Amino acid sequence: MNYRIETMINRERVEERIRELAKEIERDYKDRKEEVIFLGLLKGSVMFLSDLIKETNLDLKIDFMSVSSYGSGTTTSGVVKILKDTDFDMKGKNLLIVEDIIDTGLTLKYVKEFLYAKGAAEIKICTLLDKPERRKVELKGDYVGFTIPDAFVVGYGLDYDQKYRNLPYVGTVVFEEN
Ligand code: IMP
Ligand code: MG
Repeated sequence: MNYRIETMINRERVEERIRELAKEIERDYKDRKEEVIFLGLLKGSVMFLSDLIKETNLDLKIDFMSVSSYGSGTTTSGVVKILKDTDFDMKGKNLLIVEDIIDTGLTLKYVKEFLYAKGAAEIKICTLLDKPERRKVELKGDYVGFTIPDAFVVGYGLDYDQKYRNLPYVGTVVFEEN
């Protein structure tokens, strides 16, 4: 099927919003004694996480997990598989999960339960994008960049069949008949 990509959120707006989120997070965490680990979910969160931590003036550590929920295409398989676990021991840790987008919420619900089962003390969620209309389970982001309508988006880390992650803006995939 043919498709084109239309800009939904331009680079300046994304970057500006990330700076705001970083300041919000800084305010909330700066007086804490315990360290916080920014836990990025690969691969979609990479661009967001790297922009975010540059703007966040805190003693933080980073770690990554890789989970799969989507195959190729735009529909969820509903199956969450851990492809790469965290490097750090999660026992007693305060985590800020950094994610590209919350869609059905199935991935993050699973990941949260998995990390709590490993002993995490606190888990908060920071997502660049949120599509609340698509939610299948109850799940809220603590820090949300943009709430967007139900559309398939790419760029700023998000992919369509593994492509377009490098676009420096968020675009909508618009499918066209033949
Ligand atoms: P959820 O489990 O349905 O919330 O899906 C979360 C994952 O699906 C995200 O981390 C993305 O990798 C992927 N995803 C959901 N919506 C989109 C989209 O519009 N574009 C690209 N990837 C998406
Ligand atoms: Mg993802």
